[in-house]
Amino acid sequence: MAKSKSAYFCQNCGYESPKWMGQCPSCKQWNSFVEEVVEKTNSKVPEWRSTTTTGNTKRANKAAIIHEIVYQDESRILTPDQEFNRVLGGGIVPGSLVLIGGEPGIGKSTLMLQLALSIPQVKTLYISGEESEQQIKMRAERLSQSSKANCYILTETSTQNIFKQIETVQPNVIVIDSIQTLHSAQIESAPGSVSQVRECTAELLRFAKETSTPVFIVGHITKDGSIAGPKVLEHMVDTVLQFEGDRHHVYRILRAVKNRFGSASELGIYEMQGSGLREVSNPSEIMISQRDEPVSGVSIAAMLEGMRPMMIEVQALVSNSAFGTAQRSSTGYDTKRLNMLLAVLEKRFGFRLSAQDVFLNIAGGLRVEDPAIDLAVVVAIISSQQDIPIRSNLTFAGEVGLSGEIRAVNRIEQRIQEAEKLGFDGIFISKFNTKGLDAKKYNIAIRPVAKLEDIFNALFG
Ligand code: TYD
Ligand code: MG
Repeated sequence: MAKSKSAYFCQNCGYESPKWMGQCPSCKQWNSFVEEVVEKTNSKVPEWRSTTTTGNTKRANKAAIIHEIVYQDESRILTPDQEFNRVLGGGIVPGSLVLIGGEPGIGKSTLMLQLALSIPQVKTLYISGEESEQQIKMRAERLSQSSKANCYILTETSTQNIFKQIETVQPNVIVIDSIQTLHSAQIESAPGSVSQVRECTAELLRFAKETSTPVFIVGHITKDGSIAGPKVLEHMVDTVLQFEGDRHHVYRILRAVKNRFGSASELGIYEMQGSGLREVSNPSEIMISQRDEPVSGVSIAAMLEGMRPMMIEVQALVSNSAFGTAQRSSTGYDTKRLNMLLAVLEKRFGFRLSAQDVFLNIAGGLRVEDPAIDLAVVVAIISSQQDIPIRSNLTFAGEVGLSGEIRAVNRIEQRIQEAEKLGFDGIFISKFNTKGLDAKKYNIAIRPVAKLEDIFNALFG
């Protein structure tokens, strides 16, 4: 018997090395190298399966002049789920390999099964290494879409067997749930290890490209947010979609992180219901709570999630600290940034916040990274501290700088339009955003401000 060959892989980034190393030269992680057996078996395999990094295609490609290359865009498969189509850049591209990443329990399997069931015009094959046929059937019943679906279910983890079944079924769309459960006989290491995940993905990639079948692979995410384990996966696939949200909230965001066939800043919003995921086509309406009377500490930000404008409620609570050190806590907003804004308010404007607890919450369980939300955060904090409510038909969009200046933000027109559409009657924006802006065009009062003083005077003065 031949001696098995092994190599060392960084479990963080997938870097391969013939010998063990303490620190990964690629991602600088310490102690991340694990020995994995990589010896290939000598069994005869179809061409698209012999894909380990050294395997080259037999046929050499010729160079072609670009205007002679034809492609068809019409061949994209459209699903009834508009959010999903948009995130993919306009439907499913034939031969594309799409990775869906997300934490356990977020709804990846639900989303993928829903997809497989929702396109009866093509044959789909849903391959699960995590659940039994009965469990999948049960879930499908719950989604109540199974009657008309043209969907096959396979519970299998060996890629060799999977490809055999694919040959029999001849599906047009394939879903793999999840890549961490697959194993290929080409590699001896355990399922979920870097070399195994990489090999299985390579086989699927080769298959997708050669047969023009779109393949969706589900990948679990590690604590630090990377798709477990290797980043190499992200390089290999055409599209990476991140499914995120707070498991305890009903809203989920499907975000394109990388997309070779569309914009990488698209996102889709879903609501997890008892009967599966429902598209949310008008996110603003759900992110703002309905109230009869305005309460202090609440303001509404005109923010962008990806390319989409959306109104979101920011809630702040400022109260006297019972202990010596004040608490600062925020959900959905960067705590460091909150601390910075509090320091600006204290130092430049004399608000005595250092002896007060500050709690901040972004409604709906969203995590917001758009800096334009700063202004609404500051307004909510001061509104709570002064106990002066903000009228609920006002909204804010501006970044706050260290000297208390209000900075311009991108896509201001889209934000204004969204606010106007939702019936707000005033929007505070940075003065530096008004250049070239035709305020008369909008049926909403545009209130430019240059510094935080201006806004304090207007609201609390
Ligand atoms: P699941 O798709 O299994 O998550 P993942 O594959 O990402 O681990 O979804 C898990 C959660 O979704 C589970 O806690 C139950 C909930 N759920 C619903 O609320 N409604 C439904 O119709 C379904 C199928 C699941
Ligand atoms: Mg799952």
